[in-house]
Amino acid sequence: MATSKQLQFLANDAIALEVFEGLSATPKRLPSKLFYDHIGSALFEQITELPEYYLTRTERSILESFAGDILQHAGTSLTLVELGAGTASKTCILIEELLRRQSRALFYPIDVSPSALQEAEAQLGRQFPGLRVNPIVADYTGGVPALSRISGRKLVLYIGSSIGNFEPDESVRILRRIRRTLRAGDALLLGADFAKSPKILLPAYDDSQGVTARFNQNILARLNRELDADFAVDRFRHVALWNRRQSRIEAHLESTTSQTAFISALDLDLSFAPGERIHTENSYKYTDAMIESILRDSGFTLEHTWCDRKKWFGVHLARV
Ligand code: TRP
Repeated sequence: MATSKQLQFLANDAIALEVFEGLSATPKRLPSKLFYDHIGSALFEQITELPEYYLTRTERSILESFAGDILQHAGTSLTLVELGAGTASKTCILIEELLRRQSRALFYPIDVSPSALQEAEAQLGRQFPGLRVNPIVADYTGGVPALSRISGRKLVLYIGSSIGNFEPDESVRILRRIRRTLRAGDALLLGADFAKSPKILLPAYDDSQGVTARFNQNILARLNRELDADFAVDRFRHVALWNRRQSRIEAHLESTTSQTAFISALDLDLSFAPGERIHTENSYKYTDAMIESILRDSGFTLEHTWCDRKKWFGVHLARV
């Protein structure tokens, strides 16, 4: 039972509520959106450049090789929308190709981070005079009603394998909410990581320089900073596991000793047994059949898949 001090705090802070619930549960868990504060976002940028983390560079190479073909399939006179755009660093490949086909284009990047959107707008505006950027600050997981007011044919980009960080049923719900704001002929471009040998997957989530470990541990450092907690961060070790049955990589923080922690802002006392874990993230890895069923269940029809030569990563075009 939460005390009245806890209830008062939880009432006006949804994230704090998730932290409270997650760390009060057995096994313990933390919401993965906590990764992306300033420090975590910078660490993730570093992860995308690690030799072991093939995802970002493989997806980029697919977009570079097939941009023309992708846009050909998507149709003419396109307006681009991007879910979770961030700074839209891979999107410029498609924008460049689009502006070769049509002299002007509209781009609606959607993200929860206003600063990332400002950076995207400034950068793309400079790079592409023919592009009009209309940023939308929103959490796309709840659907984006404003999308239904955009006229003309839309191509919605959902790249970076972010879909993999949601449970399969949740990702269907998210895509269905997006689908409802689209019209016949509109398309979705979905980037997703393929299931493959754990010999390739595991190093991508547990690199030799320890950047991923610091990225995962930052979640506890953040609770120390923002919720006045006292986690001994270096007594939690980063663990990456391949869960074959569920076709996902799991990230955990494992207590290396018997220890306690106190989260002052939540008035929450915690204790950890040696080896006890906090589950921080899932990253689903897809087979063709999984991609097809997620798209079908959310009302899309898979039209074409582009991938790299080793079939490590896939970019899928689906039609409304
Ligand atoms: N969305 C990224 C992914 O699933 C996030 C990520 C990369 C991540 N490395 C991680 C999350 C390590 C937790 C731990 O690939």
